[in-house]
Amino acid sequence: MLKIAHRGAKAYEPENTLQAFQKALDLNSDGIELDVHLSADEDIIVIHDETIDRTTNGKGLVNDFTLAELKSFLIDGKFQIPTLNEVFDLVDKKCLINIELKGLGTPSKVVTLIEEYISEKNWNYNHFIISSFDWNMLQETSNLNPNIPIGVLTEENLDTPLAFAEKIKAKAIHPDFNLLNEENVHQIQEKGFLVLPWTVNSEKDIQKVKSYNVNGIISDNPDKI
Ligand code: G3P
Ligand code: CA
Repeated sequence: MLKIAHRGAKAYEPENTLQAFQKALDLNSDGIELDVHLSADEDIIVIHDETIDRTTNGKGLVNDFTLAELKSFLIDGKFQIPTLNEVFDLVDKKCLINIELKGLGTPSKVVTLIEEYISEKNWNYNHFIISSFDWNMLQETSNLNPNIPIGVLTEENLDTPLAFAEKIKAKAIHPDFNLLNEENVHQIQEKGFLVLPWTVNSEKDIQKVKSYNVNGIISDNPDKI
């Protein structure tokens, strides 16, 4: 049962910050989940929304700013927005990294960065899983490098994502946990996919999905899993 820290250990530190990912490591998480967009100069930026409005003291679209400009905005008055390679360097192979592709243009940039860490820094494909609600981006990722593990995100049903997962030979299905029961978890696993539900936070919900024998849980408080 993998304990995966959603946007870092979001219950304890500001989401998608190096501090949140360090907290996830301190809590012995098996993995972290994070979200990515591109800056105007095409660096991979770790942030959930397409704007910086909710999480920083700035305003505007992530991809209207250069990396240097994005670094000048603060999260909670003290933290900077991290790049994906800063997160890779912090994690340093200590746990799985689930990269959720959010922004346009992210698939080719993320694939290139993963390939760089594998060829130059002794990482391997099992250190990563790429997920997205945008299945075109997952298809693009698979076309670019079919060895990169893929998790198909879904919040509406399980049949269509399962068919797509079979088509692109995905590793996992990442469903909204409310879609699951013991029977369908078993059915998905019988087809050869891991089941990694999100975002399971309360003790009651964690116990419920654990009883379905899922392969892992994405949670703001991974220490409760
Ligand atoms: O990866 C699961 C979860 O992160 C998807 O929802 O909105 O938190 O990115 P969201
Ligand atoms: Ca996410």
